[in-house]
Amino acid sequence: MATQDATTLDVDAIREDFPVLDRTVGGDVTVPGPDEGDDTPLYYLDNAATSHTPRQVVEAMTEYYYEYNANVHRGIHTLSQEASVAYEKAHDRVAEFINAAGREEVVFTKNTTEAFNLVAYTWGLTELEAGENIVTTEMEHHASLVTWQQLCEKQGAEVRYVEIDENGELDMDDLREKVDDDTAMVSAVHVSNTLGTVNPVVEITEIAHEHEALSFIDGAQAVPTRPVDVAAMDADFYAFSGHKMLGPTGIGVLYGKQELLEALPPFLVGGSMIRRVKFEETTWEELPWKFEAGTPPIAEAIGLTAAIDYLEEIGMETVERHETELATYAYDRLNEFDDVEIYGPTDRGGLVSFNLDGVHAHDLSSILDDHGVAVRAGDHCTQPLHDILDVPASTRASFYIYNTKAEIDELVEAVDTARQLFA
Ligand code: ALA
Repeated sequence: MATQDATTLDVDAIREDFPVLDRTVGGDVTVPGPDEGDDTPLYYLDNAATSHTPRQVVEAMTEYYYEYNANVHRGIHTLSQEASVAYEKAHDRVAEFINAAGREEVVFTKNTTEAFNLVAYTWGLTELEAGENIVTTEMEHHASLVTWQQLCEKQGAEVRYVEIDENGELDMDDLREKVDDDTAMVSAVHVSNTLGTVNPVVEITEIAHEHEALSFIDGAQAVPTRPVDVAAMDADFYAFSGHKMLGPTGIGVLYGKQELLEALPPFLVGGSMIRRVKFEETTWEELPWKFEAGTPPIAEAIGLTAAIDYLEEIGMETVERHETELATYAYDRLNEFDDVEIYGPTDRGGLVSFNLDGVHAHDLSSILDDHGVAVRAGDHCTQPLHDILDVPASTRASFYIYNTKAEIDELVEAVDTARQLFA
């Protein structure tokens, strides 16, 4: 990767690290990978669903498999010790990246969804009482919304949804009204995966703490795209996924304050997370291993470390600036069409969800695919939010470090073609 200056990304150099961006599309989709029918350049604008993986991440994982593949925390032999050190250090690297106090506060999960479930099944089933409430928002992803909804149903607790205003921003007065002394948890998304709204997570956490409630922030779209400091935020729990930040699938992170994680019972039980097992009773390993039952995502943790190295070499302020620039450009260009409705505020994270009047998002995205433009169409795991927007689905373009304004021009041109087709 070419060295970046302080303010701009060398996107051409970055793109060289991502071989997939050179492929073409349009052929037989029943067979993975390029084929003879592929003749359209790929414009990949579906990064909020998953980002691509640079060579450096693939190489770090390949090196593990080729040179020191072994299970962790189980062997005294050289390979196992090397793998264990790399796996443990991955926790330190994540802790440093989000400014957690140390590896004790970083639990590797399968993804963001599992991080929410971990807290629901440990804290929720033991601490949340009938009559208490969890306050979350109308713009949540299903990962948190469904988890809190189901937990509250089991515990006889109430789930409250903070309203959004006409701009797609949180109504903070409503939040202040809904959080009361029976609130046990306040949970909000940091950057909305549908509206792009960047929520005031410090203020949200402060309000939770004023009522002695915990805060859980969903950082799935935030950690990949901007500097995140969990200590400054004072969040009690924070979750994100590796695959949206240049890392592999199959690994997510639950950050939790050490004293809270210490107090929780384990989530999954079995090998690796125990200290001593007797027929009569079992004691648990120290943090974070208490929450990492079974063989963990070793290669994935090594890949995630390489992804963090890659992002830090660019600098998260620079990543954020690039995201904002592309999102603003896409917003302004799509806004030129009077039959295109865009959801969410003008100040936003790096994505734009929209609809073309009278055209289902699936039909639109299929036309975009014919032009090589990859976007997500559907409800983006935010069905209740789409109910509020009063649309069954939307089309979402989402950007990352390797995207360019020229790719957004391709998107806009393809949308224009669809407009004419359906006129
Ligand atoms: N949560 C991911 C998205 O927004 C899958 O697309």
